[in-house]
Amino acid sequence: MSSSRIRVVVLISGSGSNLQALIDGMQRGELPIEIAAVISNRPAVLGLMRAEHAGIPALVLDHKQFDDRESFDQKLAQLIDSYQPDLVVLAGFMRILTTAFTRHYLGRMLNIHPSLLPKYQGLNTHQRVLDAGDIEHGVTVHFVTEELDGGPAVIQAKISVAPGDDAASLAKRVQQQEHIIYPLAVKWFAEGRLRMRHDGVLLDNELLSPSGYLISA
Ligand code: GRF
Repeated sequence: MSSSRIRVVVLISGSGSNLQALIDGMQRGELPIEIAAVISNRPAVLGLMRAEHAGIPALVLDHKQFDDRESFDQKLAQLIDSYQPDLVVLAGFMRILTTAFTRHYLGRMLNIHPSLLPKYQGLNTHQRVLDAGDIEHGVTVHFVTEELDGGPAVIQAKISVAPGDDAASLAKRVQQQEHIIYPLAVKWFAEGRLRMRHDGVLLDNELLSPSGYLISA
């Protein structure tokens, strides 16, 4: 059984609700993964407690202890690699990554971003969607490349923006979708069905559209 499970390291910075969705899927036997470690760049966050509660090694590598981005990323890569993961999952990991780091994990690192990429890369996506008067919004799982929030999309979930929505209500509905699509993307990867190629993402050997596999809530 364990030989067919891939090893995953999850990086977090905060509440870890996406981490929890992965833990739940793993514990229910729906995800053929073993979460080998959870690493946070911030001490004492809820996500670390979620990991400990599930019996997963929970580590802190505080970026404030490092002089620069390069030295932090180097140490982080060393720590990750000591767990020999098949996949690295960024789950609310609020750090800009160096090119060397992203290249090292090319094709084996996923991120989730709360917008319909390529729209709204960066922060405050929900408010920016409202300010622009968009009628739809959503979330994207993508492979990580050196371009911030720019790697090829694996899966997107769309939601409608309702007249009374504010940033908090949008965030809530987007997060519900996150907890569905992130485990699904990880499952595909774990089953060997997902692969990043120079021209995009292959699911079951078929090239996905640039916005990835689409789910409408
Ligand atoms: C999510 O909204 C994710 O899209 C963004 O950061 C948030 C992380 O939430 N990248 P959580 O820590 O998984 O609860």
